[in-house]
Amino acid sequence: MRFSVTTSPIDKPKAGLRAVGLFQKRKLGLHGERLDQTLERRLAGVLKAGEIDGDAATTLLIPAPAKGAAGTVLVGLGPKKDFTAKSVRKACTALAKLVVDRPADTVAIAVDDLLPPDENIGWLIHTLVGAIGDAGYRYAEYKGKEKVKPVRLKNVVLCVTEEQATEAERACAEAEAILAGASHTRDLGNAPPNVIYPEALAEAARELSRKYKKLKTTVLDEKDLKKLGANAILAVGQGSERPPRLIAMEYSGAGKDEAPVVLVGKGITFDTGGISLKPGEAMDEMKYDMCGAATVLGVITAVCELKLPLNVVGVITSAENMPDGRACRPGDIITTLSGQTVEILNTDAEGRLVLCDALTWVEKFKPKAVIDIATLTGACIVALGHQTSAVLGNNEELVNALKQAGTATYDRTWELPLWEEYQEQLKSNFADMANIGGRPAGTITAACFLSRFAEKYPWAHLDIAGVAWKSGKEKGATGRPVPLLVRYLLDQATH
Ligand code: BES
Ligand code: MN
Ligand code: ZN
Repeated sequence: MRFSVTTSPIDKPKAGLRAVGLFQKRKLGLHGERLDQTLERRLAGVLKAGEIDGDAATTLLIPAPAKGAAGTVLVGLGPKKDFTAKSVRKACTALAKLVVDRPADTVAIAVDDLLPPDENIGWLIHTLVGAIGDAGYRYAEYKGKEKVKPVRLKNVVLCVTEEQATEAERACAEAEAILAGASHTRDLGNAPPNVIYPEALAEAARELSRKYKKLKTTVLDEKDLKKLGANAILAVGQGSERPPRLIAMEYSGAGKDEAPVVLVGKGITFDTGGISLKPGEAMDEMKYDMCGAATVLGVITAVCELKLPLNVVGVITSAENMPDGRACRPGDIITTLSGQTVEILNTDAEGRLVLCDALTWVEKFKPKAVIDIATLTGACIVALGHQTSAVLGNNEELVNALKQAGTATYDRTWELPLWEEYQEQLKSNFADMANIGGRPAGTITAACFLSRFAEKYPWAHLDIAGVAWKSGKEKGATGRPVPLLVRYLLDQATH
């Protein structure tokens, strides 16, 4: 799908569908009135007949008056006095669902009619493009062709005013890059676990650096990891036929001496729990346990597309957590790359193990900030559900910047405390720490564990267990938190 911005009025672009907003009590906006004139008052006629009133997020499709002419979509914006970001977001979602479902190649949207007074055009373009991209996403790699109806929509033309044009163009390019990144993340997440294993993620990273000149990929295999002393990553992977990988994608968009932002993604390509085996129900969804890694690949894609003037390193720490004769056991003690020892009391708490060695390893990049992204704890879903990711960290400024980026993109995150009292739960009788902290505050104690390996730089942790994918009838990867992270990096680039 391609998105473009134009300053011509809604009736001008060649399009199969034209969409305009409608306030409650059947009030059209400026574009709508203009369109109605070119349609010889057809809209007024339809409105009079009472088929749509303008309630928020209702839609009505008025077919083209003649073959070759354009159909009109009315999208309800609710009462004019409640014209806010909230009602417009809902209207964008409804409009997006309708237009991707129609046999039109091109849709023109009267964007400036949809701009609420409490927001700016950039926000609206992001919201609208995000909603259409989301609604138009399909994963049909393994479906017989005839079973999945492809989306016909190819071009989306966004009609704005002269004053909005510059800002709109910029937001449109950003939003398209975020969409490209998030789609990549979703494709990787949705791919089956017999196809996505640690070396497959390494190959995905190499593929990006073949595509983008400013990106350099390095892959450490199991021999390299042994030599390095990354025993925590190795321990998680040792029960699998498919050996672990530690991957770095270095994007250079700024000078050599500028410290990079480092993103570290958890890439457990399948999490059975290992010897501490998970129950069978919905275990297939543990193919999504690499969504942190997929997020890093998606963000790096967007960063490359936008040619951001920053240095960014995308790191993926990847293993498959399987039970086997060689698998690690509860009670095993390992010496991590940092030198600290860990007693593995539960092999299902493997995410923090692959992450701890990666967090030590990234010190070598002398980072300005490190953000890890992980489907780390079921407890996070208990705490925040499927709407909100959790953020914890050792640096207030970094955590606040992430919260702000989440709010701006509606890819929201909420802070949990990382107070030192929680650290006590990680005590081990036999090693420097245990890898689990008991039932209370599971998301916090997991972050406490990570914090012990992230003392040398500003660090934040995003637990995306609840937001990275949807279960049930709509099962599939969401592409979150790509929008949040790209927004954060865009904000960094302008500071
Ligand atoms: N990948 C899981 C966390 C998870 C579970 C994410 C379900 C999304 C849905 C992680 O590796 C895990 O198993 N965590 C354990 C930790 C526990 C053993 C301390 C958990 O949350 O149960
Ligand atoms: Mn696990
Ligand atoms: Zn896991």
